[in-house]
Amino acid sequence: MIVDGRTIYACSTLAIEMQGKKIRTVDGLTQGTVLHPVQQAFYDHDGLMCGFCTPGFVTAAAALLEKHPNPTPEQARRALDGNICRCGTYVRVLEATLNTGKKGVTRG
Ligand code: FES
Repeated sequence: MIVDGRTIYACSTLAIEMQGKKIRTVDGLTQGTVLHPVQQAFYDHDGLMCGFCTPGFVTAAAALLEKHPNPTPEQARRALDGNICRCGTYVRVLEATLNTGKKGVTRG
């Protein structure tokens, strides 16, 4: 999840630590039925299979692109690091992230 603009692991965070903080999850990225540009890119690049890892990757990519709109591959790898995909979609996740940057993210 994204907390005050920084990605953190929701699974290792106590709710009480989050009082007064701005929290966004993958569900908060979608506006109605309109996907966030990163979500659309994951769809376009087949950046998911089972989808188990997808919320973590999408929120990490969205947070990265808000800070670095056109990241280098190394910046993207570093930002996505720590998310584990048992289906092995890493290359497509990286492509989706980098291509979203090239297109430009228009909302945070
Ligand atoms: S798409 Fe299955 S774990 Fe990543």
